[in-house]
Amino acid sequence: MDSQVQVLVGAQWGDEGKGRVVDVLAETADVVARYQGGANAGHTVMAGGRKYVFHLLPSGMLYPNRLCVIGNGLVVDPEKLIEEINGLDPSPEMLGTRLVVSGAAHVVMPYHKKLDALRETARSQSGSASAIGTTGRGIGPCYVDKYNRTGIRMEDLTLPDVVASKLRLNLSEKNQILEKIYGESPFEFDKLYETVLEWGRFIGPYIGNVTFELGEAISSGKRILFEGAQGTLLDIDYGTYPYVTSSNCISGGCCTGGAVPPGRIGKVIGVAKAYCTRVGGGPFPTELTDAAGERLREKGREFGATTGRPRRCGWLDMVALNYAVRVNGLDAIALTKLDILSGFDELLVCVAYEIDGDRSETFPDSSNVLERATPVYRRFPSWNEDISGCRSVSDLPKPAREYVGFIEESTSTKVCLIGVGPERENTIRIS
Ligand code: GDP
Ligand code: IMO
Ligand code: MG
Repeated sequence: MDSQVQVLVGAQWGDEGKGRVVDVLAETADVVARYQGGANAGHTVMAGGRKYVFHLLPSGMLYPNRLCVIGNGLVVDPEKLIEEINGLDPSPEMLGTRLVVSGAAHVVMPYHKKLDALRETARSQSGSASAIGTTGRGIGPCYVDKYNRTGIRMEDLTLPDVVASKLRLNLSEKNQILEKIYGESPFEFDKLYETVLEWGRFIGPYIGNVTFELGEAISSGKRILFEGAQGTLLDIDYGTYPYVTSSNCISGGCCTGGAVPPGRIGKVIGVAKAYCTRVGGGPFPTELTDAAGERLREKGREFGATTGRPRRCGWLDMVALNYAVRVNGLDAIALTKLDILSGFDELLVCVAYEIDGDRSETFPDSSNVLERATPVYRRFPSWNEDISGCRSVSDLPKPAREYVGFIEESTSTKVCLIGVGPERENTIRIS
């Protein structure tokens, strides 16, 4: 790590390979922290021939003697968190790695997940707007309660009286919505209360004051890596609204969700795939619905790490990537899955959009406009070599070097790492 505080964000629509890049960078970090999102994330790390998929835990959990943090900006599903902690082998205790969960993070309750599913069905049946295709993890409804100031926070789980009164208040409203609007059965207080207390007993020891812990870590010169979830184009403000998630995924999100003052951020790294994917609904100008798209999906194993859904695939979009460079203030790009582009006849890269007959290199601030964008492509030669063994840029075939060079040139941003395969070692590190 060459800066004390680094933020790593998704530069596209999520699933760029953030988990595997965090795993590489965490080798030299003291603290790895998540700052937004929840179990909608699925971050894959392939290490030592094993596959780990992190949903809530930071992808730094595989290293010994680290501090791993779940920041206040997250919405935490305790059921999933407990499952993830129990499933970790070797366990954090064995590694001497400490997990701290912010007491101010919000709790995803079963009724949030139920409402997520019901609202999604309603959207798809309404005819006026199509479904977002959420992960069904209760993310949107939980953030609604946070901003409505009726949410239950992680700290409440260990306070039986507090959580009882908050739960009663929430159920009085949620059950009416479930019964009267959706014709569903209500949640029983007693059963849910018991579950919540059980969660509190398990998670209680992990709950801590993250603002203090991270402040101390910064003051004492510890190296901190923030792990963004989702991606720039899924950000609630900067993404393709309403086909977005409900949090700020961009680098700035770590100031509010990870307790880091803006001036302390030393470096922002954007993770981008060498092509594009998207899961769920919403505009995707370079989407390929032909054999090339199918080939990217099959070769890149583009199936969701959280829901298993097939990902929509398309060519690299420089208009979108340049937008991500700008809104995140990217200092460097980690380019993943370059190996997947081996063996294509040619590679297309979107360098501009044509919108209503006009050429534009500006990413529109409206999904309605983006829906009408058709890509203007520049063609690049591909290569046939298997590049998974390459460990330096000079090992790459010339067309691959040119592809990377073009990305650097048109974003005016350095590529600091190239993924040439899913395993830890399939990495080209560029200092
Ligand atoms: P994340 O959500 O951004 O962490 O990404 P996901 O884990 O959801 O999806 C990325 C997928 O691509 C995972 O299956 C990774 O193992 C895989 N992956 C990451 N980098 C590379 C790479 O450079 N080459 C190949 N072939 N696979 C990669
Ligand atoms: P990682 O961190 C890709 C998408 C969903 C849906 C929209 C809203 O693994 O990159 P939500 O459940 O958040 O309300 O769904 O956002 N989405 C993701 N797509 N990767 C993710 O996470 C995603 N998290 C949410 O498919 O379109
Ligand atoms: Mg993912």
